[in-house]
Amino acid sequence: MSLQVALQKLAYDVVTRYIKDSRVVGLGSGSTAAFIVREMASLENRYAMQFVPTSLQIKVEAEKIGLQFADENRVPDIDVVFDGADQIDSKFNMIKGGGGALLREKILISSAKKVVIIADESKFVQSFSRSVPIEVHPLARTAVARKLKEFGGQPVLRTLDKGYPFVTENGNVILDTTFAAISDPVRMEMDLKNIAGVLEVGIFTRRANAYYKAKNDGTFEIITF
Ligand code: A5P
Repeated sequence: MSLQVALQKLAYDVVTRYIKDSRVVGLGSGSTAAFIVREMASLENRYAMQFVPTSLQIKVEAEKIGLQFADENRVPDIDVVFDGADQIDSKFNMIKGGGGALLREKILISSAKKVVIIADESKFVQSFSRSVPIEVHPLARTAVARKLKEFGGQPVLRTLDKGYPFVTENGNVILDTTFAAISDPVRMEMDLKNIAGVLEVGIFTRRANAYYKAKNDGTFEIITF
């Protein structure tokens, strides 16, 4: 409940501080990003702005408050993108892709002028302790899984509740891959990305401009760079 209070307060801060004066805004995916989108209903000038969604999930949220979508050729003009995260380590690298939107999220986070990340305090960790989502072309599923094992990983094909493979909005599959340790995330991101058939890696090493941490006591903290 208090976490909800913290999110409510920080959503107002994100919108007034980072989004209000932007022309083109990137929308990350997930429940936290949806929370911020709902807060944008209070923005009077929202019809003068253009939005680039990273998934159908967040697009549907944005449609509910009548946001206008930009063509993909506006991606290089995105003033700010906001997004959630699955884990954030002590150097502010992130693991993302729990919802499967990592490819589009990486495109927007790489191109936007400013990046704002919002997460509850449980997501902030000393070093990564969860699997890394890796989006893979279906043809390369077995070949990539073998390579990931050579890197010391344990890949698991993401499936839906009834056992069907999860297919991303780009028509690919996800290998959620556990590594014993990720001592150098920048190197790991590059090495994994270099495997033929890997479309994107859920390790995000571009440092954001701001990280909002929602706390269980109903307050929030902003870490800026
Ligand atoms: C989507 O694929 C992810 O990168 C999300 O941004 C991430 O999983 C955070 O989601 P929640 O805000 O729902 O925790």
